[in-house]
Amino acid sequence: MKAFNDLADFRREEVQALLETARWLEATRQPRALEGKVLALLFLSPSLRTQASFQAAMARLGGSSFVISPQHNIHKLETRRGVIMDGDAAEHVSEAVPALCSYADAIGIRAFAPRRHLDDDVEDRDFRALVELCTVPYINMESAILHPTQSLADWKTLDELSIPGPGAKFVLSWAYHPKELPLAVPASTVAMAAQRGMDVTVLRPPDFALPERVMEKARALAESSGGSLRETTERLEALEGASVLYAKSWSSTTHYGEDERELRRGLTDWCVEESWLANARPDCRFMHCLPVRRGVVVRDEILDGPRSVVQLQARNRMWGQMAVLHRMLA
Ligand code: CP
Repeated sequence: MKAFNDLADFRREEVQALLETARWLEATRQPRALEGKVLALLFLSPSLRTQASFQAAMARLGGSSFVISPQHNIHKLETRRGVIMDGDAAEHVSEAVPALCSYADAIGIRAFAPRRHLDDDVEDRDFRALVELCTVPYINMESAILHPTQSLADWKTLDELSIPGPGAKFVLSWAYHPKELPLAVPASTVAMAAQRGMDVTVLRPPDFALPERVMEKARALAESSGGSLRETTERLEALEGASVLYAKSWSSTTHYGEDERELRRGLTDWCVEESWLANARPDCRFMHCLPVRRGVVVRDEILDGPRSVVQLQARNRMWGQMAVLHRMLA
Protein backbone atom coordinates (compact mmCIF):
# COMPACT_ATOMS: atom_id res chain seq x y z
CA MET A 1 0.00 0.00 0.00
CA LYS A 2 1.60 3.25 -1.17
CA ALA A 3 -1.04 5.61 0.19
CA PHE A 4 -3.97 5.65 2.57
CA ASN A 5 -5.72 8.79 1.43
CA ASP A 6 -9.39 8.10 0.84
CA LEU A 7 -11.45 5.13 2.05
CA ALA A 8 -13.37 5.34 -1.23
CA ASP A 9 -10.12 4.42 -3.07
CA PHE A 10 -10.70 0.92 -1.67
CA ARG A 11 -13.43 -1.47 -2.73
CA ARG A 12 -15.92 -2.45 -0.03
CA GLU A 13 -14.32 -5.91 0.22
CA GLU A 14 -10.89 -4.29 0.63
CA VAL A 15 -12.16 -2.16 3.52
CA GLN A 16 -13.66 -5.29 5.09
CA ALA A 17 -10.28 -7.06 4.67
CA LEU A 18 -8.53 -4.16 6.42
CA LEU A 19 -11.01 -4.39 9.27
CA GLU A 20 -10.41 -8.13 9.43
CA THR A 21 -6.70 -7.33 9.89
CA ALA A 22 -7.62 -4.81 12.61
CA ARG A 23 -9.63 -7.48 14.47
CA TRP A 24 -6.77 -9.98 14.05
CA LEU A 25 -4.26 -7.49 15.48
CA GLU A 26 -6.62 -6.74 18.37
CA ALA A 27 -6.88 -10.45 19.16
CA THR A 28 -3.27 -11.54 18.58
CA ARG A 29 -1.33 -8.25 19.16
CA GLN A 30 1.79 -8.99 16.97
CA PRO A 31 4.19 -6.86 19.04
CA ARG A 32 7.17 -7.37 16.69
CA ALA A 33 5.45 -6.99 13.33
CA LEU A 34 6.97 -3.58 12.58
CA GLU A 35 10.26 -3.96 14.44
CA GLY A 36 12.80 -1.44 13.13
CA LYS A 37 10.21 0.55 11.18
CA VAL A 38 9.81 4.29 11.70
CA LEU A 39 6.73 6.43 11.08
CA ALA A 40 7.05 10.22 10.67
CA LEU A 41 4.00 12.17 11.86
CA LEU A 42 3.73 15.72 10.52
CA PHE A 43 0.98 17.73 12.20
CA LEU A 44 0.41 21.10 10.55
CA SER A 45 -2.91 21.25 12.46
CA PRO A 46 -3.77 20.28 16.06
CA SER A 47 -4.73 16.82 17.31
CA LEU A 48 -5.20 14.70 20.41
CA ARG A 49 -6.56 11.31 19.23
CA THR A 50 -4.83 11.09 15.87
CA GLN A 51 -1.41 11.84 17.31
CA ALA A 52 -1.73 9.58 20.34
CA SER A 53 -3.37 6.68 18.44
CA PHE A 54 -0.73 6.65 15.67
CA GLN A 55 2.10 6.69 18.20
CA ALA A 56 0.42 3.95 20.24
CA ALA A 57 -0.25 1.93 17.07
CA MET A 58 3.41 2.00 16.03
CA ALA A 59 4.59 1.17 19.56
CA ARG A 60 2.18 -1.78 19.86
CA LEU A 61 3.51 -3.22 16.59
CA GLY A 62 7.13 -2.89 17.70
CA GLY A 63 7.99 0.13 15.55
CA SER A 64 8.58 3.73 16.51
CA SER A 65 7.40 7.15 15.46
CA PHE A 66 8.33 10.79 15.77
CA VAL A 67 6.05 13.81 15.76
CA ILE A 68 6.80 17.12 14.10
CA SER A 69 4.40 20.01 14.68
CA PRO A 70 4.53 23.79 15.03
CA GLN A 71 4.13 23.29 18.81
CA HIS A 72 7.55 21.59 18.87
CA ASN A 73 9.61 24.70 18.25
CA ILE A 74 10.35 23.82 14.64
CA HIS A 75 11.11 26.50 12.07
CA LYS A 76 7.91 28.17 10.92
CA LEU A 77 6.88 26.32 7.78
CA GLU A 78 5.71 27.86 4.51
CA THR A 79 3.27 25.71 2.52
CA ARG A 80 2.44 28.03 -0.40
CA ARG A 81 4.28 27.59 -3.68
CA GLY A 82 6.09 30.44 -5.38
CA VAL A 83 6.14 32.90 -2.48
CA ILE A 84 9.11 35.09 -1.55
CA MET A 85 9.93 33.86 1.95
CA ASP A 86 10.77 37.21 3.53
CA GLY A 87 8.19 36.85 6.34
CA ASP A 88 8.10 34.65 9.47
CA ALA A 89 8.53 31.27 7.75
CA ALA A 90 12.13 30.06 7.76
CA GLU A 91 11.59 26.77 5.92
CA HIS A 92 9.42 25.54 3.05
CA VAL A 93 7.61 22.19 3.14
CA SER A 94 9.42 21.46 -0.15
CA GLU A 95 12.58 20.89 1.88
CA ALA A 96 11.01 19.77 5.17
CA VAL A 97 8.82 16.91 3.88
CA PRO A 98 11.55 15.10 1.89
CA ALA A 99 13.91 15.46 4.87
CA LEU A 100 11.33 13.86 7.20
CA CYS A 101 10.69 11.10 4.66
CA SER A 102 14.41 10.33 4.55
CA TYR A 103 14.26 9.39 8.26
CA ALA A 104 11.15 7.22 8.02
CA ASP A 105 9.52 4.25 6.26
CA ALA A 106 6.17 6.04 5.98
CA ILE A 107 4.74 9.44 6.80
CA GLY A 108 1.41 10.64 8.15
CA ILE A 109 0.38 14.22 7.40
CA ARG A 110 -2.38 16.37 8.89
CA ALA A 111 -3.18 19.71 7.27
CA PHE A 112 -6.63 21.23 7.75
CA ALA A 113 -8.36 23.27 5.06
CA PRO A 114 -7.08 26.79 4.46
CA ARG A 115 -10.79 27.73 3.91
CA ARG A 116 -10.02 30.34 1.28
CA HIS A 117 -11.77 28.83 -1.77
CA LEU A 118 -14.31 26.01 -1.59
CA ASP A 119 -13.19 24.43 -4.88
CA ASP A 120 -9.55 24.29 -3.74
CA ASP A 121 -10.57 22.53 -0.53
CA VAL A 122 -13.03 20.13 -2.16
CA GLU A 123 -10.27 19.18 -4.63
CA ASP A 124 -7.79 18.92 -1.73
CA ARG A 125 -5.28 20.96 -3.74
CA ASP A 126 -2.95 21.90 -0.87
CA PHE A 127 -2.78 18.36 0.47
CA ARG A 128 -2.15 16.92 -2.99
CA ALA A 129 0.77 19.34 -3.38
CA LEU A 130 2.13 18.25 0.01
CA VAL A 131 2.02 14.53 -0.73
CA GLU A 132 3.74 15.04 -4.06
CA LEU A 133 6.79 15.82 -1.91
CA CYS A 134 6.65 12.43 -0.15
CA THR A 135 9.27 9.85 -1.06
CA VAL A 136 7.79 7.12 1.17
CA PRO A 137 4.19 5.81 1.53
CA TYR A 138 1.87 8.34 3.14
CA ILE A 139 -1.25 8.38 5.30
CA ASN A 140 -3.80 11.18 5.26
CA MET A 141 -4.33 12.10 8.92
CA GLU A 142 -6.98 14.70 7.90
CA SER A 143 -6.80 17.05 4.98
CA ALA A 144 -9.23 19.69 3.72
CA ILE A 145 -11.81 17.14 2.58
CA LEU A 146 -10.73 13.69 3.84
CA HIS A 147 -10.30 11.96 7.21
CA PRO A 148 -9.95 8.31 6.16
CA THR A 149 -8.61 6.88 9.42
CA GLN A 150 -11.62 8.33 11.26
CA SER A 151 -13.95 6.72 8.73
CA LEU A 152 -12.18 3.36 9.01
CA ALA A 153 -12.59 3.47 12.81
CA ASP A 154 -16.24 4.49 12.46
CA TRP A 155 -16.92 1.57 10.07
CA LYS A 156 -15.33 -0.79 12.61
CA THR A 157 -17.45 0.75 15.37
CA LEU A 158 -20.66 0.21 13.39
CA ASP A 159 -19.66 -3.42 12.76
CA GLU A 160 -19.01 -3.99 16.46
CA LEU A 161 -22.42 -2.58 17.34
CA SER A 162 -23.99 -4.99 14.81
CA ILE A 163 -25.53 -2.07 12.93
CA PRO A 164 -26.02 -3.46 9.44
CA GLY A 165 -25.05 -1.79 6.16
CA PRO A 166 -28.08 -2.14 3.89
CA GLY A 167 -31.35 -1.47 5.70
CA ALA A 168 -30.03 0.72 8.53
CA LYS A 169 -30.68 4.46 8.60
CA PHE A 170 -27.64 6.67 9.20
CA VAL A 171 -28.24 10.38 9.85
CA LEU A 172 -25.34 12.79 9.55
CA SER A 173 -26.49 15.97 11.26
CA TRP A 174 -24.98 19.43 11.25
CA ALA A 175 -24.59 20.79 14.79
CA TYR A 176 -24.00 24.27 16.14
CA HIS A 177 -20.44 25.39 16.91
CA PRO A 178 -19.21 28.96 17.39
CA LYS A 179 -16.44 28.47 14.82
CA GLU A 180 -16.39 27.56 11.14
CA LEU A 181 -15.10 23.97 11.09
CA PRO A 182 -13.67 22.00 8.13
CA LEU A 183 -15.59 19.71 5.79
CA ALA A 184 -13.27 16.70 6.08
CA VAL A 185 -15.24 14.70 8.66
CA PRO A 186 -18.74 15.23 7.21
CA ALA A 187 -17.47 14.56 3.66
CA SER A 188 -15.68 11.37 4.71
CA THR A 189 -18.51 10.23 6.97
CA VAL A 190 -21.23 10.53 4.36
CA ALA A 191 -19.03 8.59 1.90
CA MET A 192 -18.23 5.89 4.48
CA ALA A 193 -21.88 5.30 5.41
CA ALA A 194 -22.89 5.23 1.72
CA GLN A 195 -20.06 2.83 0.87
CA ARG A 196 -21.20 0.62 3.74
CA GLY A 197 -24.61 0.42 2.03
CA MET A 198 -26.60 2.37 4.63
CA ASP A 199 -29.62 4.60 4.00
CA VAL A 200 -27.96 7.95 4.57
CA THR A 201 -29.71 11.22 5.39
CA VAL A 202 -27.82 14.51 5.64
CA LEU A 203 -29.71 16.79 8.05
CA ARG A 204 -28.60 20.43 8.00
CA PRO A 205 -29.80 24.06 7.98
CA PRO A 206 -30.41 25.71 4.58
CA ASP A 207 -26.97 27.34 4.12
CA PHE A 208 -25.05 24.22 5.09
CA ALA A 209 -25.57 21.81 2.19
CA LEU A 210 -22.47 19.70 1.61
CA PRO A 211 -20.65 20.50 -1.66
CA GLU A 212 -22.29 18.91 -4.69
CA ARG A 213 -19.07 17.04 -5.52
CA VAL A 214 -19.14 15.41 -2.05
CA MET A 215 -22.79 14.41 -2.48
CA GLU A 216 -22.20 13.06 -6.01
CA LYS A 217 -19.39 10.85 -4.76
CA ALA A 218 -21.50 9.55 -1.87
CA ARG A 219 -24.46 8.97 -4.20
CA ALA A 220 -22.28 6.85 -6.52
CA LEU A 221 -20.97 4.85 -3.54
CA ALA A 222 -24.53 4.30 -2.28
CA GLU A 223 -25.71 3.13 -5.70
CA SER A 224 -22.94 0.56 -5.97
CA SER A 225 -23.44 -0.79 -2.44
CA GLY A 226 -27.26 -0.91 -2.29
CA GLY A 227 -27.64 2.12 -0.04
CA SER A 228 -29.28 5.49 -0.56
CA LEU A 229 -28.60 9.19 0.05
CA ARG A 230 -30.89 12.15 0.70
CA GLU A 231 -30.77 15.60 2.30
CA THR A 232 -33.28 17.43 4.47
CA THR A 233 -33.68 20.33 6.88
CA GLU A 234 -36.50 18.58 8.82
CA ARG A 235 -35.11 17.11 12.01
CA LEU A 236 -37.84 14.78 13.31
CA GLU A 237 -38.60 13.41 9.87
CA ALA A 238 -34.87 12.86 9.22
CA LEU A 239 -34.40 10.91 12.43
CA GLU A 240 -37.49 8.72 12.13
CA GLY A 241 -36.33 5.10 12.41
CA ALA A 242 -32.66 6.11 12.58
CA SER A 243 -30.08 3.61 13.88
CA VAL A 244 -27.31 6.22 14.06
CA LEU A 245 -27.13 9.96 14.63
CA TYR A 246 -23.65 11.22 13.72
CA ALA A 247 -23.27 14.88 14.70
CA LYS A 248 -20.70 17.30 13.33
CA SER A 249 -20.45 20.98 12.67
CA TRP A 250 -19.09 22.25 9.36
CA SER A 251 -18.65 25.47 7.42
CA SER A 252 -21.39 27.01 5.34
CA THR A 253 -20.83 26.20 1.70
CA THR A 254 -22.79 29.26 0.55
CA HIS A 255 -20.66 31.62 2.70
CA TYR A 256 -17.40 29.65 2.52
CA GLY A 257 -14.35 31.48 3.81
CA GLU A 258 -16.47 34.23 5.37
CA ASP A 259 -17.07 35.08 9.03
CA GLU A 260 -20.24 33.08 9.79
CA ARG A 261 -21.06 34.56 13.20
CA GLU A 262 -24.20 36.31 11.96
CA LEU A 263 -25.33 33.26 9.98
CA ARG A 264 -24.91 30.96 13.00
CA ARG A 265 -26.53 33.24 15.56
CA GLY A 266 -29.97 31.70 15.06
CA LEU A 267 -28.74 28.10 14.98
CA THR A 268 -27.80 27.47 18.62
CA ASP A 269 -30.73 25.04 18.93
CA TRP A 270 -28.76 22.63 16.68
CA CYS A 271 -27.39 21.08 19.89
CA VAL A 272 -28.24 17.37 19.99
CA GLU A 273 -30.57 16.42 22.84
CA GLU A 274 -32.84 13.49 23.65
CA SER A 275 -35.95 15.18 22.17
CA TRP A 276 -34.34 14.93 18.69
CA LEU A 277 -34.60 11.16 18.94
CA ALA A 278 -38.32 10.84 19.73
CA ASN A 279 -38.98 8.93 16.48
CA ALA A 280 -35.60 7.22 16.16
CA ARG A 281 -35.07 3.55 16.97
CA PRO A 282 -34.96 3.07 20.76
CA ASP A 283 -31.38 1.79 20.40
CA CYS A 284 -30.28 4.66 18.10
CA ARG A 285 -26.58 5.41 18.72
CA PHE A 286 -24.89 8.79 18.95
CA MET A 287 -21.57 9.17 17.14
CA HIS A 288 -19.06 12.04 17.00
CA CYS A 289 -15.40 12.02 15.96
CA LEU A 290 -14.33 14.24 18.90
CA PRO A 291 -13.24 16.73 20.10
CA VAL A 292 -16.74 17.91 20.98
CA ARG A 293 -18.03 20.96 22.86
CA ARG A 294 -20.44 19.86 25.59
CA GLY A 295 -23.65 21.86 25.78
CA VAL A 296 -22.89 23.41 22.38
CA VAL A 297 -22.80 20.51 19.91
CA VAL A 298 -24.47 17.93 22.18
CA ARG A 299 -26.05 17.84 25.63
CA ASP A 300 -24.41 15.87 28.44
CA GLU A 301 -27.52 13.66 28.68
CA ILE A 302 -26.62 12.19 25.27
CA LEU A 303 -22.83 12.20 25.56
CA ASP A 304 -22.88 10.52 28.99
CA GLY A 305 -25.85 8.29 28.23
CA PRO A 306 -26.20 4.79 26.76
CA ARG A 307 -26.59 6.04 23.17
CA SER A 308 -23.08 7.47 23.02
CA VAL A 309 -20.33 5.41 21.37
CA VAL A 310 -17.77 8.19 21.03
CA GLN A 311 -15.15 6.42 23.18
CA LEU A 312 -15.47 3.25 21.12
CA GLN A 313 -14.90 5.34 17.99
CA ALA A 314 -11.81 6.93 19.56
CA ARG A 315 -10.44 3.53 20.65
CA ASN A 316 -10.99 2.05 17.20
CA ARG A 317 -8.78 4.73 15.67
CA MET A 318 -5.78 2.82 17.02
CA TRP A 319 -6.83 -0.65 15.81
CA GLY A 320 -7.82 0.60 12.37
CA GLN A 321 -4.55 2.48 11.97
CA MET A 322 -2.59 -0.59 13.13
CA ALA A 323 -4.18 -2.47 10.23
CA VAL A 324 -3.21 0.29 7.77
CA LEU A 325 0.35 0.42 9.11
CA HIS A 326 0.63 -3.37 9.03
CA ARG A 327 -0.53 -3.46 5.41
CA MET A 328 1.82 -0.61 4.47
CA LEU A 329 4.97 -1.63 6.35
CA ALA A 330 4.96 -5.28 7.48
N1 CP B 1 -11.12 12.77 15.66
C1 CP B 1 -9.88 13.28 15.58
O1 CP B 1 -9.24 13.30 14.51
O2 CP B 1 -9.41 13.75 16.76
P1 CP B 1 -8.14 14.68 16.95
O3 CP B 1 -8.43 15.98 16.20
O4 CP B 1 -8.01 14.88 18.41
O5 CP B 1 -6.95 14.01 16.35
